Parts: sequence; structure tokens; C-alpha cells
Amino acid sequence: AKPLLWGGRFSGAIAGAIDELMFQFNESLSFDKVLYKADIRGSITWAKALRKLDILTDEELDTIVTGLQAVEKEWEEGKFVIHTSSDEDIHTANERRLGELIGATAGKLHTGRSRNEQVGVDMRLWAGEQLDQLSVILKDVLRVFAERAKEALPVLMPGYTHLQRAQPVRFSHWLLSHATFLKGDLQRLEGVQERMSACPLGVGALAGNPFGIDREFMAKDLGFRSVHPNSLCAVADRDFVVEILQWASLTMAHLSRLAEDLILFSSAEFGFVQVADAYSTGSSLMPQKKNPDSLELIRGKAGRVMGHASGFLASLKSLPTSYNKDLQESVEPMIDTINSVSTCLRITQGVLATLKINGDKMRAALTDDMLATDVADYLVRKGVPFRQTHHIAGAIVRKAEEVGVSISALPLETFKEISPLFEEDISEVFDFEKSVEKRCTPGGTSSSSVLAQIAALEAFVSGQ
Ligand code: ARG
Repeated sequence: AKPLLWGGRFSGAIAGAIDELMFQFNESLSFDKVLYKADIRGSITWAKALRKLDILTDEELDTIVTGLQAVEKEWEEGKFVIHTSSDEDIHTANERRLGELIGATAGKLHTGRSRNEQVGVDMRLWAGEQLDQLSVILKDVLRVFAERAKEALPVLMPGYTHLQRAQPVRFSHWLLSHATFLKGDLQRLEGVQERMSACPLGVGALAGNPFGIDREFMAKDLGFRSVHPNSLCAVADRDFVVEILQWASLTMAHLSRLAEDLILFSSAEFGFVQVADAYSTGSSLMPQKKNPDSLELIRGKAGRVMGHASGFLASLKSLPTSYNKDLQESVEPMIDTINSVSTCLRITQGVLATLKINGDKMRAALTDDMLATDVADYLVRKGVPFRQTHHIAGAIVRKAEEVGVSISALPLETFKEISPLFEEDISEVFDFEKSVEKRCTPGGTSSSSVLAQIAALEAFVSGQ
């Protein structure tokens, strides 16, 4: 027999007895103990609200608050002793310990309260703080993007579509393309935080609170923006977890795409960048190997996070109204996802900050055919419709291929044979720098456009 908190209705000598495996199956303390601080914060607020109802006296409130603070200190110092055979979750564990420390008064704390509302408060408080930290880390990552983009401004690289060489771009522009995705994630995160800020405290197990507890006071005391509007919904509501998991899935998709580019660019075949030793590992067999494991793990963890998102949504689907224990399955994916994203962001920051940029290699990978569009545009500027110029430039590319030279090496006569509008100045088109600088509208790859993007990113992260 175990002294379980809810053992009363279980009759006779085996009061509260529970199958050993069932106990382990049911317990959540092994993972929800990370919520200890949030749980105690929520309990202190709850006690204050009970005081307002005269359910607690001033002395009792004081005793309870002091006791809860002592319990928190035990967790903080690693001194909290978990009763592995009877502590079911963080809520019952904290209450059990409070009782040991302050005696019978502890028994008044849970008046009118259900763990169903408690867990909702704890998870939101915990996640809210974690998401604040993720915002800070995301901003740090964006700052590194801006710094590296500034530093690498002169570096030109082949831009790709379909992984085929397309047009020259600035390496900084490529960096900023990934930063732009992550900026979107940071903006979306604010929306997630806003929507999850409804306080479920005071909704009871499912039907509401019969003592007239001041829900507005508790929401405010805990820093929530509003009170949750429906008790049945509130105890069943893990939409904020779904939103966090889906937000994280998209963020990880973005990080995995950056990782994939960098893995490719760091291969010997590209050689555009080199991942620092600090973020690489070696091979146990091949002495020459240096592998970008940091980036591969980020790419791999994206799948793990997406799995959490679809896995928990599947648990949520078709649940009957109000609280069901299935909802406990929201806790682990939430914790693991936030930890994974946090680590992946910090690793990304480190990889980017220490990345060696091989500008010469990128420059050497530029080929004249990547200026074929510029050849077409040359004729557009002479009034030829683009559909015709596209054809003419295509004929130039084909001719160069026949002769076995690059398009810039074809003599002017050959150009003129294909279109009489080509003149001496066509040679000026074969300049990667000029090609890039022509693309100077907002969002383009010219230095002015890239510098404007950097300035906008910097203003965004500094909150202007
Ligand atoms: N640990 C539970 C959870 O994470 C909260 C406890 C509610 N349990 C209950 N039997 N009503 O959802």
C-alpha cells in the first residue's frame, strides 16, 4: 500500500494500493519535475487568493508561503528527496513535502483546486520563460548573421536554383536569406506567446471554482494577460503546446535547410566554407576525416521535433471533453522540443560565428554562362522583347558549347551573326561584380540592397 494523495476512496486494507508497473506508467514526476519552480509560484498565488477568501488566516498564509519557499530551495540545491514509490507528479510531490515541513496547515492549500488547472498553469509558466529565452537566443543568432554578412560583403558566389548554377550573388545575400526565415520565426514566436497567455487557475477540475476565487487577481499575479474563458476548455487546452511544437517544427525546418547548405558548401567539391574544428568531429577509422556533425545533428533533430508535433497532435485528436490523462503526453514533447531547439540555435550561432569563408573558392566557381541572363538583358535595353532576347542568349550559349569556349570568349563577329544589335560594349556584360550590382532594388543582391537588409535586420534585433 502506498500513501497516495487521492487514496481516500480506495477502500479497506489496500487503500491506495496500486500495481507497481501501473504506478510507473502513471507517474510524471520523472519528467515534470522541471516544472517545480512554476508549480511553487502557482501555489503561492493560489494561497494568496485563498487568503482573500478568508480560507487562510494571515499566519497560515505566511506558514504556507515560507514552507513553499523552503521546498523550492530544496529543489534548487538538489536536496529534494523524491519518494519514488509514492510521489506521482510535481504537484503531489511538492504538496507532500510541504506537509512534512509545516504540518496540517499544508492540507488547506489545495482547497477548491485541481491538478488539472495546476498542470496547465505550470506548463504555461515554464514554457513562457523558455520561449523568452529562445527569443533571446534567436536574436543572438540573427546578430551573428548580420555581422558575418557585413564582413563578407565583397564575396561573390554562384547562386543556385535546383542546385544548378544560376546567377552570381553575394555570399552575404545567401546568409541573409536564411536570416530572413529565422526572423519570421522570431515574429511568429511572439504570436504564440501572446495566445498562450490565458490563465487557467480557478477553473477547478472541470466545472469552475465554488468559493468565488479571484481569477483576475491570480492571472495578474502570475503575469498572464487574461483569464482562460471556459473551465471545460481550460483543463483540456494544450493548444499552446501544439503551437509551440508546430512553431518549433518550422524553425527546425529552417535550421535544417541552413545546415544542409553548409554541409554541401563545406564538402571538398564545393569548398566554399570550412566548419571550425570546435563544431566538427573526426572518424574513428579514417584519419583524414573532419565531419560537420554539428550541422548533421541539427538536420536530424528537425525530424525529431516534427515527430513530437505530429505525435502529440495525434494524442490530442478525438479526446472527449475536459481533462483526460492522455493530456499528460503533452509534457515530454514540450520539454524535449524546447530543449532541442534551444541547443540547435546555440550550435547554429557557434557554427556561423566560427565559419571560415573561402571567398576565392566561391569566386572560382563562377562561370560565364551564369551571365546569360545579363546577355539577354543587354538586348532588352536595346528595345528587343525579352522573349526574343532569351532565345538569342540561348543561341549564344549553344554556340559557345559547340566551339568549346565560354560565352565571353566568343568573338564579337559571332555575337553579331546571331544578333546585329550586339556591339563592342557586350564585353562589359561579362563582369560578375557588375551583374550583381545591377540587382539593386530592395531585396536584391547588390551591395546597397544587401547593406539595407543588414541595417533592417540590425534594427529588428535591437527592437527599433
Ligand atoms: N500530471 C498530470 C498531467 O500532466 C496532472 C494531474 C492530473 N491528474 C488527474 N488524475 N486529474 O496532466
